[in-house]
Amino acid sequence: MKGIVLAGGAGTRLYPSTIAVSKQILTVYDKPMIYYPVSTLMLAGIQDILIISTPDDLPCFERLFGSGEALGVRFTYAVQDAPRGLADAFIVGESFIGDDNVCLVLGDNIFHGYGFTERLHNAAARKTGATIFGYHVANPDEFGVVEFDDDGKVLSLEEKPAAPKSNYAVPGLYFYDNRVAGIAKAVKPSARGEIEITSVNNAYLEMGELNVELFGRGMAWLDTGNHRAMLAAANFVEAVQTRQGLYIACLEEIAYRQGFISRDKLLETAARLDKTEYGQYLHHIAETVVRH
Ligand code: G1P
Repeated sequence: MKGIVLAGGAGTRLYPSTIAVSKQILTVYDKPMIYYPVSTLMLAGIQDILIISTPDDLPCFERLFGSGEALGVRFTYAVQDAPRGLADAFIVGESFIGDDNVCLVLGDNIFHGYGFTERLHNAAARKTGATIFGYHVANPDEFGVVEFDDDGKVLSLEEKPAAPKSNYAVPGLYFYDNRVAGIAKAVKPSARGEIEITSVNNAYLEMGELNVELFGRGMAWLDTGNHRAMLAAANFVEAVQTRQGLYIACLEEIAYRQGFISRDKLLETAARLDKTEYGQYLHHIAETVVRH
């Protein structure tokens, strides 16, 4: 399975912080925002990752991640020259996807919670159809919204509805089979002139091939939509990391535990980040984690 991180957008709700840099390069506590969605793909076992961004911002991500060698993954980079909608990721990424299935994660979506890795593996293991998720939020009108009947059967999917039919938002994490590029090409632009991911999901729903899985209360899906939400997300990450002594979205740790990199590779990055708690944490991982 291939993975795509869509890290575009103008980030206008975070102005002036995002006038000169991409939203997804801003820090969320101790690491760039894009680490979090990249960690999601790596936890799903994905090692082939395409990063899509604007012509201005793409070089920033290339400087950050390079080839991916330090993480035992392969990064490919592609430009989206105009914001044509989330579903455009599959058109930009068509040749990258090739004959594989694909997981799309939005560059500003942060997930953390018990059992998350298992959910990812289950979704990645499905050979056909699409898998999306539902998450209870207080403000569903700001998201894609999924409506269920009493038996959990999906009745509708709507993009940012004025009158949401449920409190279940669809997070920016989607698994699709190989048909997705063709489906994205057939999608008609919405009123805001974009090809919406919700239209792609509706196409799978109409084919009877959409799986929607609900995240329970124990799961955190953090908002980064404005400055207050950014601070709340940073505080959440700091609180969990300080309390548990276990990091959220520490990419080198994930790579090491998954067997993507050797202990020597892990220690190389640890040395580079030596002046930070992050670097010291990598040393700690190298000393304490036993791999089988
Ligand atoms: C996008 C999608 C929406 C989804 C959200 C998750 O909205 O269009 O369906 O719920 O991401 O973050 P955006 O906020 O990018 O407009």
